[in-house]
Amino acid sequence: MELPGAASERGSWGTRLGFILAAVGSAVGLGNMWRFSYVAAEGGGAAFVLLYLLFVTLVGIPVMTSELIIGRMTQVSPIKAIRQLGGASWAPLGWLFVAAGFGLLSYYSVIAGWTMRFATDAMRGAIPQDTATYFNQVGTNLPAIVTHVIFMAITVFIVGRGVKKGLERTALILMPMLFLLLVGLAIWSATLSGGGPGYAYYLKPRLNELLDTAIITDAAGQAFFSLSLGMGAIMTYASYLKSKRNLGREAVTIAATDFGVAFVAGLVVFPIIFHFGLGEAIGLGGVLNTDNTVGTLFITIPPALQSIGSFGNVVIAAFFVMLFFAALTSAISLLEVVVASVIDNWHWPRAGAAVTFGILITLAGLPSALNLNFLTFADRLFGAFFLMLGGLLTAILVGYRALPEADRELAQGLQHPGLRRAWSTAIRYFVPPVLLVVLSFGIKPLWNAFRALIGG
Ligand code: PHE
Repeated sequence: MELPGAASERGSWGTRLGFILAAVGSAVGLGNMWRFSYVAAEGGGAAFVLLYLLFVTLVGIPVMTSELIIGRMTQVSPIKAIRQLGGASWAPLGWLFVAAGFGLLSYYSVIAGWTMRFATDAMRGAIPQDTATYFNQVGTNLPAIVTHVIFMAITVFIVGRGVKKGLERTALILMPMLFLLLVGLAIWSATLSGGGPGYAYYLKPRLNELLDTAIITDAAGQAFFSLSLGMGAIMTYASYLKSKRNLGREAVTIAATDFGVAFVAGLVVFPIIFHFGLGEAIGLGGVLNTDNTVGTLFITIPPALQSIGSFGNVVIAAFFVMLFFAALTSAISLLEVVVASVIDNWHWPRAGAAVTFGILITLAGLPSALNLNFLTFADRLFGAFFLMLGGLLTAILVGYRALPEADRELAQGLQHPGLRRAWSTAIRYFVPPVLLVVLSFGIKPLWNAFRALIGG
């Protein structure tokens, strides 16, 4: 039953499970595997993981609750929602979200393209032993452009079909499959000999690293990236939400699932790295600044699994198919932010908005497909800095401009006054100062990545 006019273009979730799965689908993606594993390896393993968990809990959950509140309260796309809450002077925050989604998807799709390439090549048994060389062949230039374009086309198709028909059904089928595959791989990893040091590296923090500003920024950036926060993705999904459920609980569910998947992914990857002595190849604990850094997962997983014989190719294919699906549900949410904004602001038809902006984002991704340094820079800028900035401004907006309304909206499903006070205290007094500090830590790495870009 659709309403006539512009409202029919919006749609809404059919079921609570549909919403949760789609939100989890947005959160769980390349961030949990590709990004988590290489940033964790870079940041000393367990120290990073612990800081990451702290940021997810103390910053991520309050910010996610805020995004859910704004979305459900306003029932409009982020740009309009922000303007409704903060007035015209806050409008740039909405555009920051759209810019972040646009920029993030442009290179995200390139990486997602690698997963398609590796999955299909594994099915054909065509991944050679020397994956570093192979990665450089298929990860850039024409092969990368081809898979990038295909991935964007799939994403555009799903987003163009609309909320219920596209997003929800896709998430409903894909997410449970992903969990099963991942747990299976973690069990296989546990049977590897010599995995012990891998678990230790991953789980036993060295205390001095907990104070390392680079690791702190990376952990915070990773929390925003992985939870899909700071750019209106979760906000947009919540704007399709009609039910008056407890948004605090939804935030915890989404964050816990996302953390769980990343954590299990680490349980898959780290024993493999140590069992096969791949630590040096990916620069464990060191500074990773080669082009291969971003390819860590793609370079290390195939030779590991090929070692178990021809069945290994089946597992590799399963692994990358799973990663592809996870990336797809995240990419859908990235494009959705852009498309929802265009629908709400300019009253374009959904399909037209999806195709037009899909093409523009595809073009914007070409530099990342041609140059991995560009991809790394885009990841630092859009995938970490923009998101943390968006999260900071969202917290200030909610905490200082719209707290009474936001609290009333939260109270619809969360009666407990103490929990609501904990949330509002966090969003006013904890999240903004912490993010300010972390953002200031992040300026130098961003600058370095920029220099690496223009220098290389
Ligand atoms: N959370 C997604 C991932 O981990 C990426 C993403 C970021 C999606 C921001 C939407 C918004 O892969």
